[in-house]
Amino acid sequence: MALNRLSLFVAALAAASQWVSAATVPSSTSQTASVETAAAFSNKHKCPTGQTTSNPICCKLFPIVDQIQKDLFDGGECGEEAHSALRLTFHDAIGFSIHGGKGGGADGSILAFNKTELAYHANGGIDDIVERQFPVFLETGLTAGDFVHLAGAIGTANCPGAPRLDYFFGRPAPKAAAPDLTVPEPTDSVTKILARMADAGFSAAELVALLSSHSIAAADVVDPSIPGTPFDSTVDTFDTQVFLEVLLKGTAFPGKGNVSHPGEVLSPIAGEMRLQSDAAIARDSRTACLWQDMIDNQQAMMSRFKAAMSKMQVLGQHGLTDCSDVIPTPKPFKGHITFPPTFSQKNVQVACKSSPFPKLKTVAGPAPTVAPVPGS
Ligand code: HEM
Repeated sequence: MALNRLSLFVAALAAASQWVSAATVPSSTSQTASVETAAAFSNKHKCPTGQTTSNPICCKLFPIVDQIQKDLFDGGECGEEAHSALRLTFHDAIGFSIHGGKGGGADGSILAFNKTELAYHANGGIDDIVERQFPVFLETGLTAGDFVHLAGAIGTANCPGAPRLDYFFGRPAPKAAAPDLTVPEPTDSVTKILARMADAGFSAAELVALLSSHSIAAADVVDPSIPGTPFDSTVDTFDTQVFLEVLLKGTAFPGKGNVSHPGEVLSPIAGEMRLQSDAAIARDSRTACLWQDMIDNQQAMMSRFKAAMSKMQVLGQHGLTDCSDVIPTPKPFKGHITFPPTFSQKNVQVACKSSPFPKLKTVAGPAPTVAPVPGS
């Protein structure tokens, strides 16, 4: 469906990408990233559009931010497209190895070479957001990598509680599709996921930090009969609720007939999906304390996620310009997370032995049923 239609755009894409790459910082085959920081431009520069930025190169992005909000995110919502835009940044960037021999990293290859990459099993469900992003991408004239990672940062900013992500600008057009089997699957073991992430340059702590993203996430294809099934009960808020709920004892599968599908395990709340990989990472001795430490620790979660995302969005890139000040400032999440109604400490499967579990209150009321994400 989406694949065939998108492949028609490839010629136009190549033209668009070539035009833009002439105006961006030259590419490099280096495996390390380097970034020109805003510090080089200590004075704020006023753009013709009225906004200010540390670097005049970034001025052209302000109208594009508005366009992406309007055409992709329904005027700035933390909805299905915002969630998927964040997922897309990971599936694009992780096709990379610090040892070489894989893809170009955060280069937009998943958009430009969608016909190839969307056929990979781990990219199931990505076709919808690629189809939504492709025409907007062509209109903006950005390179595919600049577009994918700009859209991801803007979409995330639409979710209350999220950090304001960094954004680095100036990626050249991608050269080739990333190879298959670089994106972790929910059926993978923790050992396999940690090894893949280490191969791309990420520690166990950075993996857990990146998984904060599952705070604004839902599954469409794990159980295709129930698209948009959230991973936590606050899918439109970037809070630490997912870290708590993944540790609650699972009792049922959200799909009809209580049937399980590959990649899911028992979940604690009606209408909620728990990924096998999240459940395993939350309970594995190598990651359990990193996971528990996120619970009701909003500021730490935000800063760790921001740092790991900053690293991820420049994988394989070189000589980019810091245009972080074009990214909207998210609304804050204030207060504490809570046990969902009817749940309490006795439902928690504590896996970290070395530090006390945070004390949380329980919301009053009947056992909840989590609603699917609209438009999924
Ligand atoms: C161990 C690594 C990971 C695994 C195994 C994994 C797996 C998955 C799966 C199976 C889904 C549901 C797909 C569907 O059925 O539609 C999903 C959704 C999602 N993932 Fe991950 N993921 C991982 C890491 C990440 C990272 C690092 C990010 C971003 C930084 C991310 C962001 C998301 C988002 C935002 C969604 C929701 C998309 C939507 O609601 O449309 N994931 N992930």
